[in-house]
Amino acid sequence: TPRVFSGIQPTNHLQLGNYLGAVKRFVAMQNDGMETIYCIVDQHAITASFQNPADLRHATRELASAYLACGLDPAKSVLFNQSQVPAHSQLAWVFNCVARMGWMNRMTQFKDKAGKNAEKASLGLYAYPALMAADILLYHATHVPVGEDQKQHVELTRDIAAKFNHDYGVDFFPETQPIIEGAATRVMSLRDGTKKMSKSDPSDASRINLTDDADTIARKIRKAKTDPEPLPETVEGLADRPEARNLVNIYAALAEITAADVIAQHGGSQFGSFKPALADLAVDKLAPISTEMARLMGDVTEIDRVLSQGAERAAAMAEPIIAQTYDIVGFVR
Ligand code: TYM
Repeated sequence: TPRVFSGIQPTNHLQLGNYLGAVKRFVAMQNDGMETIYCIVDQHAITASFQNPADLRHATRELASAYLACGLDPAKSVLFNQSQVPAHSQLAWVFNCVARMGWMNRMTQFKDKAGKNAEKASLGLYAYPALMAADILLYHATHVPVGEDQKQHVELTRDIAAKFNHDYGVDFFPETQPIIEGAATRVMSLRDGTKKMSKSDPSDASRINLTDDADTIARKIRKAKTDPEPLPETVEGLADRPEARNLVNIYAALAEITAADVIAQHGGSQFGSFKPALADLAVDKLAPISTEMARLMGDVTEIDRVLSQGAERAAAMAEPIIAQTYDIVGFVR
């Protein structure tokens, strides 16, 4: 049976790309009746730079509140934070010894995040994809819903599983499939249609945060960068227009229709009329989430309770797998 695993880092606020590219699809897979496990990867969150402990705690609880506010249900999905299940780090160590330096050297996200001065990057940032492979394979997950930027990491996960199985002569870890679907697998910055929307962009106007209120959401969309032409009459007409294409894709993902449907409805419109329509749609879909998140954040003991119950369920699934892995490797227990 298919088993779904995915994770999000608790760094800064969740943005629209995380919602459309990930959480919204987590909810759909949960409601399709698949077996779903969704993690808050707090151990990944300390790889890129020093995290203030109070900020990390806050971001972890806020991400939990976003999961719940978006419709993830702890009775249907396993929801937890990574550091509460020690088997993630245990399996990650084994995978550090399976993955090759050459594989890690090809990871584009490491190059982007480490920047020009890779000497100053943490060892954890370099090993990050091996921890991610451990997250997924610890549950023998087969389906991993992610945005486009995580594709290479899921492919590395397959390579690690295959090498482990081959080295030890077992058929233990399954092949994992990245699930990258829909109109919003790569949501772009509202200020620059060639740059990915990101939690860490210094410009807050470049993104919509899930914590933004209705006025802020509408204002950011009205101010989004566009070109001077009206929307094209066909989707092909979006090809060389990154900002227009991005707004059409956002509309499509929010409305749960295709980009072609959006063009069928709005092709030929000026941005002066398309942007208000998009702003209304975004406020309609997103403002209730930020309101519900704020309500849930009023009681962090309840959030912590959800996470620790989820962690118990996750640990119960993970423990037999790590035990078998140790036996395969030859660690005496
Ligand atoms: P993270 O925290 O950067 O992002 C979480 C999810 O959001 C997606 N995403 C986007 N999708 C569309 N448009 C965007 N602009 C955009 N920005 C982010 C990401 O693709 C991701 O799906 N390494 C992962 C976390 C992770 C993980 C895992 C994921 C750790 N272990 C195991 C899956 C399975 C990360 O940093 O995602």
